[in-house]
Amino acid sequence: MRTQSVVVFLVLAAVGLARATEWWESGNYYQIYPRSFRDSDGDGIGDLNGVTEKLQYLKDIGFTGTWLSPIFKSPMVDFGYDISDFYQIHPDNGTMEDFERLMPRPRRLASRSSWTFVPNHSSDQSEWFKKSVDSDPQYKDYYIWHDGKINEETGEREPPSNWGSEFRYSAWEWNDVRQQYYLHQFAVQQPDLNYRNPVVVEEMKNIIRFWLAKGVSGFRIDAVPYLFEVDLDRYNQYPDEPLTNDAEACPDPDDHCYTQHIYTQDLPETIDMVYQWREVVDTFQAEHGGDKRLLLTEAYTSFENMMLYYGNGVRNGSHIPFNFDFLSNVNNASTAGTYVTHIKKWMDAMPEGVYANWVLGNHDNKRVASRFGVQRTDLINILLQTLPGHAITYNGEELGMTDVWISWEDTVDPPACNSDPEHYYDRSRDPARTPYQWDASSKAGFTSADHTWLPVSDDYKTKNALQQLRAPRSHLQIFNKLLRVRKEPSFRQGDLNIEAIDDDVIIYSRQKSDSDLYVIVLNLSGTAKTIDITKYFKLGSQAEVITTSLNSQHIDGDVVNPSAFVANPYVGTVLVAVN
Ligand code: NOJ
Ligand code: MG
Repeated sequence: MRTQSVVVFLVLAAVGLARATEWWESGNYYQIYPRSFRDSDGDGIGDLNGVTEKLQYLKDIGFTGTWLSPIFKSPMVDFGYDISDFYQIHPDNGTMEDFERLMPRPRRLASRSSWTFVPNHSSDQSEWFKKSVDSDPQYKDYYIWHDGKINEETGEREPPSNWGSEFRYSAWEWNDVRQQYYLHQFAVQQPDLNYRNPVVVEEMKNIIRFWLAKGVSGFRIDAVPYLFEVDLDRYNQYPDEPLTNDAEACPDPDDHCYTQHIYTQDLPETIDMVYQWREVVDTFQAEHGGDKRLLLTEAYTSFENMMLYYGNGVRNGSHIPFNFDFLSNVNNASTAGTYVTHIKKWMDAMPEGVYANWVLGNHDNKRVASRFGVQRTDLINILLQTLPGHAITYNGEELGMTDVWISWEDTVDPPACNSDPEHYYDRSRDPARTPYQWDASSKAGFTSADHTWLPVSDDYKTKNALQQLRAPRSHLQIFNKLLRVRKEPSFRQGDLNIEAIDDDVIIYSRQKSDSDLYVIVLNLSGTAKTIDITKYFKLGSQAEVITTSLNSQHIDGDVVNPSAFVANPYVGTVLVAVN
């Protein structure tokens, strides 16, 4: 029996971890959504000084790096992802002096910060776009303009192609002044930059260099797949994209999924641009010294493309191409086998010398605790923190924050606002963006204002950071324990042996030779399971609980019998062999 189990185990070497020495390797990253993190000046919107104030808190939990959603000048149509000046801080977030005051602190706290770079589009309020509208010779071709086409039957002018916006409706918008359409793959107010113009390519590289010179440790690059569209020079007309033809999953012609984005996403030129940006950051480091500057890339794309964003064997790309394979394919209905399949898939496919990464939540998806079920909050955090490579946590997931229901009237997220009162909620990203819950005081200690840009969750009096820091057991205490244990050699550099023992239970070990053997047991189901762990791993007659979910019968430090281990419903447990 034991031999059989061992045979089906796949030993997944934690690629490259043996040489883990730099700050970012085996890193533990925290995504800060600054608007909702901490408001220092009482206007109901979070800001840079709020981040500065709370860095010690993040350091104490054990994060080694942060990435921040955009803080640059913006009309805030897409809450900072519509940038009107890539070289300025938006007043809601503070000033350049605030930024400069913050910058040395992450380094002192050994938790470096990466900043969002939004290269695909600017705001329609940027000087570049305004000048492009006016056909200023320098900016005329900064964006993608087209006359459109004449409908043969009606004689009317129409958009150049059927391309759809991520935020619904056509991706083409008519401009009366210029008498042409421009492309926007996101909101109407987010015109796509023209990457076939070398001046734009250089401008965007200069933006990277500008912020590197200000001391940023890296960039989270936004919306990468959309950079390039087909080259008009190769076609007489922008070609229509084929229909998805999936009446069940995507019946609405105004939705982005209605067409297949073969001419607007993941073009080879786009992947090449990421390699070029890697060269920019590597060159900067070679010239200026200091730590490696990181690229984290956001690309919801095919698995093959996610791997290509790492590099193509000849050229390097992103250090951390976000693992959206797991995020997109594993949910509260997934079996243990599905989890394991997606974990192995990433581990097996990674090119040489890179690290795996695990992302389960961000500001664009519903909250982890809501998606996987609140009972599984700790189990999911345990999984995220005990796999090899980088763990990336969205602010609030460590407290088990859940989605906040937001009425149609209070909804501010553009794709939801482009919808209707009946359908907006599924499309809305507001529920995962509400203010961070610091304590039980008014507005959860997020602000001194009596109004916040999105409502504070009703549960803040009982679910907040201060309460969880003080309680003997809490989601945050478990998280903190995980971050401490993942510094052990077996987690930093150890192999992963993982298996689904049935539809409900995932069991895996992390071990580096000559270091401790850790075994993690995750029971996804609502039924208790008694498991003989010794059938799978050499735990001996006793094992110690390093940490376990709040709803476990055990507490940290308990000694258990691995041959009859009870995995309570929805509980995750980290065990270590006791010699
Ligand atoms: C991805 C960002 O994460 C999202 O919030 C934004 O709306 C789009 N890119 C457009 O920039
Ligand atoms: Mg584009």
